[in-house]
Amino acid sequence: MSFLRKPVLAPSILAGNHANLGSALKIADADGRRWIHLDIMDGHFVPNLSFGPQTVADLRKQSSIFFDVHLMLAEPDRYLDPFIQAGADLVSIHLEPNYDHLAALKKIRGAGIKNGIVINPDTPVDGLISLLGEVDLVLFMTVFPGFGGQKFIDEVLEKVHRVDEIREHSKFDFLIEVDGGVGPEHVQPCLDAGVDVFVAGTAYYKLDTDGRRQFAESIEEA
Ligand code: DX5
Ligand code: ZN
Repeated sequence: MSFLRKPVLAPSILAGNHANLGSALKIADADGRRWIHLDIMDGHFVPNLSFGPQTVADLRKQSSIFFDVHLMLAEPDRYLDPFIQAGADLVSIHLEPNYDHLAALKKIRGAGIKNGIVINPDTPVDGLISLLGEVDLVLFMTVFPGFGGQKFIDEVLEKVHRVDEIREHSKFDFLIEVDGGVGPEHVQPCLDAGVDVFVAGTAYYKLDTDGRRQFAESIEEA
C-alpha cells in the first residue's frame, strides 16, 4: 500500500474553530493521528472560502503530522508553490477544472512531496485513467465539495471499487482516499471497496476522546 502500511484516519481541520485552527490540530496530534486534512477553497471552484497558505505555514510550525492539503481551486496550478512552501506533505488537485493536470502533478512530485488527483461525486473515472501511473493518491469526493457536515453519497463506492481493481491489475501503488460525510458507519464498506485514507471532519470532532479513539481504531487496526 504505497507509502502507508495500513489505512489511516485523517481528521479534517475544516470542522474546527477557524479563529483557532491550532486547537483542532492539537486534538488530532494528542489523539495520535498521523494525518491531518486541510481544505483550501477559493469561492470559485466551490461556493465557499476557507483559508490560505499563510494559515497552513503557521499550523506547520505547531506540528509534524502529515499535512494532506486538498486544493478546491479553479486554477490550482497557479497556487502550487505557496502550498508546497507552506509545508504540505501532499497536495491534491481536482480533475474537473481545465489546466495541464499532468504538469501540475509532476510539479508537486518534483518538489519532493506526494501528489493526489481528486474527483467529484458526479465525475466519471474515465478521465482519471491516464493519470493513474503518475499519482500517489486518488481522492474520491463522497459529497459535493464546499462544506463540511453533508451526507455521504454511497454510490461513489462503486467508482472506488472500480479504481481499486485497476490498481490491483496494473500493480499501481497509489492510495485511495474518501472525503465528505465519512462516519464510523462507513468504515467497513469503504475498507471493502479499497479505501486507505478516511477524511472525517464533523464526525470526528463531535466525538469525545474515547469515541475518536474507537473511530480511529476501526480504521487503523482493522
Ligand atoms: C468538503 C471538504 C471535506 C470536509 C469534510 O468540501 O473537502 O474535507 O472537510 O467534512 P465532513 O467530514 O464534515 O463532511
Ligand atoms: Zn477535503
